[in-house]
Amino acid sequence: MPVILGIESSCDETSASVCMNGEILSNVIANQTIHEAYGGVVPELASRVHQQNIIPAVQQAISKAKVNKNDIDAVAFTRGPGLLGSLLVGVSFAKSFALALDKPLIEVNHMQGHVLAHFIGDHKPSFPFLCLTVSGGHTQIVLVKDYFDMEIIGQTTDDAAGEALDKTSKVLGLPYPGGPLIDKYARQGNRGAYKFPEPQIPNYDFSFSGLKTSIMYFIRDNVKTNPDFLQENMADICASVEYRVVTILLNKLKRAAIEYGIKDIALAGGVSANTGLRQGLTELCEQQGWNAFIPKFEYCTDNAAMIAIAGYYKYLKGEFVGQDIAPLARMPF
Ligand code: KG4
Ligand code: ZN
Repeated sequence: MPVILGIESSCDETSASVCMNGEILSNVIANQTIHEAYGGVVPELASRVHQQNIIPAVQQAISKAKVNKNDIDAVAFTRGPGLLGSLLVGVSFAKSFALALDKPLIEVNHMQGHVLAHFIGDHKPSFPFLCLTVSGGHTQIVLVKDYFDMEIIGQTTDDAAGEALDKTSKVLGLPYPGGPLIDKYARQGNRGAYKFPEPQIPNYDFSFSGLKTSIMYFIRDNVKTNPDFLQENMADICASVEYRVVTILLNKLKRAAIEYGIKDIALAGGVSANTGLRQGLTELCEQQGWNAFIPKFEYCTDNAAMIAIAGYYKYLKGEFVGQDIAPLARMPF
């Protein structure tokens, strides 16, 4: 019954989780609200807040799980990709904890963690499956052949989907992070009100920078003739933007699933919290007779439960790392 402590600190969430024999017993997430005032994550500030939050988050995760820290069999941590200063806090903490209690260390790739969040709970996909991983920093279609055998078959050539939503929301005058607010407004709007272009990118790759620019020009031109354009049409604009982002993502995912002959289709990453995307994938899978795997909200955005569960599968394989391990801002699969 291995007990794994998971640590996540790659961006602006400080998170700790305890997993026992593949079951998540706790998942504590400390959000950093300080970045709202700056309209985006300020790396230096993120590192400082991680430093303040990491020990209370771990203490809470251990006490909520009702385990003793000596019961922990291994410490799994996000090694990368992410902000280097943020990663350093989590990696240094994990190493110190493991050294003090004489426990082994397990490194986890953050993007693999997002995919492996699907192995929390009973509704698990079967290999091989496709996972659309969409976050503030990444947009990938991943062919998942086994727990740690994953191939990126398509990815963004410029902005990530979450980044496009966050940048669009800035243009709309909404606070950071805008993705959840676009989702909220979109629920009251007409998604067919405005037509934004779908980029023609080869293979399974994506591009979102053109869409962002066309939205900027659309708003600039309309505000010129009607200064209240944004306030009067916020719900329709958000619904139309969200719809275009969702159709860009799902059209590629559908093609990949057909061409690879795969029937288990999963979503992961912060943007998988989006209502339109969740509904869109559910409908697509119903139409095609495929199985949709959509994570619970708390496992969509950054969290340590996904790191703990990934750590559990590495523990079973005996894959540990030494105390000389260092974080990686860029980390391939
Ligand atoms: O995975 P994540 O928490 O952090 C990264 O690793 O980037 O993803 C954060 C991204 C942000 O761009 C945020 O705006 C977006 O996920 N997001 C959403 C929603 N919730 C979070 N986008 C659209 N709708 C949502 N409900
Ligand atoms: Zn993430």
